[in-house]
Amino acid sequence: MNSQPLGAFRFYDNHPQPADFYEEVLRGLQHRPKFIPPKFFYDEAGSILFDAICELPEYYPTRTEMALLNQHAEEIAELIGKECLLIEPGSGSSQKVRLLLDAFQPAAYMPMDISRNYLMNAAQQLSEEYPWLEVHATCIDFTADMVLHFCPADIHKVAFFPGSSIGNFEPQDAAVFLQKVVKMVGEGGGLLIGVDVKKDKAILDAAYNDSQGITAKFNLNLLSRINQELDGNFDLDAFFHKAYYSPEAGRIEMYLISKTAQVVTIDGQRVSFEEGESIHTENSYKYTIGEFARLAETAGLELVDVWMDKEELFSLHYYQVK
Ligand code: AVJ
Repeated sequence: MNSQPLGAFRFYDNHPQPADFYEEVLRGLQHRPKFIPPKFFYDEAGSILFDAICELPEYYPTRTEMALLNQHAEEIAELIGKECLLIEPGSGSSQKVRLLLDAFQPAAYMPMDISRNYLMNAAQQLSEEYPWLEVHATCIDFTADMVLHFCPADIHKVAFFPGSSIGNFEPQDAAVFLQKVVKMVGEGGGLLIGVDVKKDKAILDAAYNDSQGITAKFNLNLLSRINQELDGNFDLDAFFHKAYYSPEAGRIEMYLISKTAQVVTIDGQRVSFEEGESIHTENSYKYTIGEFARLAETAGLELVDVWMDKEELFSLHYYQVK
């Protein structure tokens, strides 16, 4: 019945160095102003809370991007051409790529993620759902390196970077990341990337201050992670979530604010807070299409096409290496 050959499943392990949570948290909390990098949001509880954020009525990016991928998959497939090597840095659950696979018919899909077990399970599951698809999963820290363990000569390489994950980088770091993508996909290679756009402050503020308080829980979960993993004694009721769009900076800024003057200990190390003092936990940059295309241009990418929803909430860009 099904005459298509079965796709292989391969797993490559680059043994990424796990981030030193203790060292980075202490360094951030000793810094003025205090900060904790947003990559630490995503332990198991944090990942579950993030999935819940993606379903919130106020959080428009996920559903808007998925609708764009769904609606334009065939059109994008025509631009990309058949039989590419489709590479996804930070692939997580590989949910969004499912909207593209039937249209793209890639020669192989290469999910890359730092979470070994999560990647293994997600890639294996995908491989079972798409028996014809060749899957080459790679456990790697894509911010450190993006080696291709599977790369037939002359294969057309296309990177997929959805979710406006690019927004967590400072713009100059985003350009550095895009340069790495350019190096990886090579001459003629492509990049399909989801970018959240600048818009009315009220819409942005609501997306990061949902009425169910899930984003607040997601933010505060950082403190319970520190309590559990680093022997901390944060009182979660003594901090509150704060997030707002700064039009000047073009970004959402997210903080945890200390309600009182207090001293917290982390594995015996004392960290003191003044009343109202903040821990900066995330920036999420928003770009106009022109701004992002110019940034990509500095990295050696040329905009081929771009798609937006009617309300102009979210953008999907396809670039080619110049
Ligand atoms: C995963 C970085 C795209 O900035 O919208 C959602 C993370 N933080 N709500 C974003 C996030 C709070 C998200 N990114």
